[in-house]
Amino acid sequence: MGCLISAWSWIRVGATIRIFVSSSESSSDDVSTTCLQKNFIELKLVFIAALAPATGGVVSPDLDPLNIQLLCISVVQSTYGTGSATTMLRSAIHVLLSVRALRRGPTAAAALTAFVGRYDGYSTASSHQRLAGKVAVITGAASGMGNATAAEFVRNGAKVILADIQDDLGKAVAAELGPDAFYARCDVTDEDQIAAVVDLAVARHGQLDIMYNHAGVTGSKITGSIVSLDLADFDRTMAANARSVVAGIKHAARVMVPRGSGCILCTASTAGILGGITPAYGISKAAVIGAVRAVAGELGRHGVRVNAISPHLVPTPFCLRALAEILPEGSPEDIKRMVETALNEMGGTAVLQVEDIARAALYLASGEANYVNGHNLVVDGGYTVGKIPSMPAPML
Ligand SMILES: NC(=O)c1ccc[n+]([C@@H]2O[C@H](COP(=O)([O-])OP(=O)(O)OC[C@H]3O[C@@H](n4cnc5c(N)ncnc54)[C@H](O)[C@@H]3O)[C@@H](O)[C@H]2O)c1
Repeated sequence: MGCLISAWSWIRVGATIRIFVSSSESSSDDVSTTCLQKNFIELKLVFIAALAPATGGVVSPDLDPLNIQLLCISVVQSTYGTGSATTMLRSAIHVLLSVRALRRGPTAAAALTAFVGRYDGYSTASSHQRLAGKVAVITGAASGMGNATAAEFVRNGAKVILADIQDDLGKAVAAELGPDAFYARCDVTDEDQIAAVVDLAVARHGQLDIMYNHAGVTGSKITGSIVSLDLADFDRTMAANARSVVAGIKHAARVMVPRGSGCILCTASTAGILGGITPAYGISKAAVIGAVRAVAGELGRHGVRVNAISPHLVPTPFCLRALAEILPEGSPEDIKRMVETALNEMGGTAVLQVEDIARAALYLASGEANYVNGHNLVVDGGYTVGKIPSMPAPML
């Protein structure tokens, strides 16, 4: 296997932790480690490609059997499951958290958990298996927010079918995510293909718990007047953004209602709340919010929740393509800067990332959102409510 992660970094989170992860076929240190001092933990994991259940007994005396077992499971899964260095590192960190929790108590464990969330950009809740045993389909999952959400769902224990029309990219992303991810081609403008991917989830995993209707397009023009609206382009945009969502809700509900449970998520947009963008795109995203509201009551009575997520601008390929029309001379970096500054209501204190949307989706898909139904979760840093009115501000 060779060296996967030769060395990692020093991190400071209350305690100072040094994580050193490496891979070696010849090392005899199967699992060496742990030096615990007053405010200092050094955990060194030596990954061995051949590490298998047979080596599970070779342990450091510092580690108790439970943690050794977790460690071996994690390493074996990482080694044989994905071959991804990132996944190995994440798995290793999760094991370290287990070791840490037992050794240092819950407060410090929470600090470490928060660190891991900050490091990899994903959820910081104490449980990393918030979707354990769940099966999800995510459309538009080969890239951007859909990709990030697939990663977050897998990390939280779900089996995910990534549905997209970019086959090579989708397959590569699924391979990177490991055995719990699977790519299937699905053009969301075709109802039959949506029905097929829902059926695929049931055939492969016996159920569908989460349907995330995320794929969408900008339409041919992101600016433009209603007066010159091309209705053929309007129809195409509505088919990709709104009709597709309705079909996704319909077919997910077909298999969820009989089971009496499920969660359907639909990507809308701040453009569905505000005007000022092209009519076709804005109308299509307003329709997504409308579709969610129209069916939430009916599906809720069958234990199926349906919610929308409205992201503000995130510099994904989708966004860069759309804004290139407004800033034709600008480089992708110029556009990214515009998104992060001029179009960011948070004053530079935070910038919207794909992982923010993944975490929003995780929350809505998890049991923590058990009573959240028919909602539009707007993730926009206050953009849609933070406009300064053109009148004198009240004196504070
Ligand atoms: N990026 C933003 O600023 C932003 C803001 C608000 C809402 N959105 C919404 O997010 C979604 C786009 O996601 P992203 O920004 O991560 O973009 P992205 O370009 O990174 O990903 C979009 C994915 O959707 C796929 N896709 C496009 N048409 C499809 C079709 N007919 N069938 C199946 N898959 C298809 C693409 O292949 C791509 O992989 C859209 O619904 C868009 O309206 C984006």
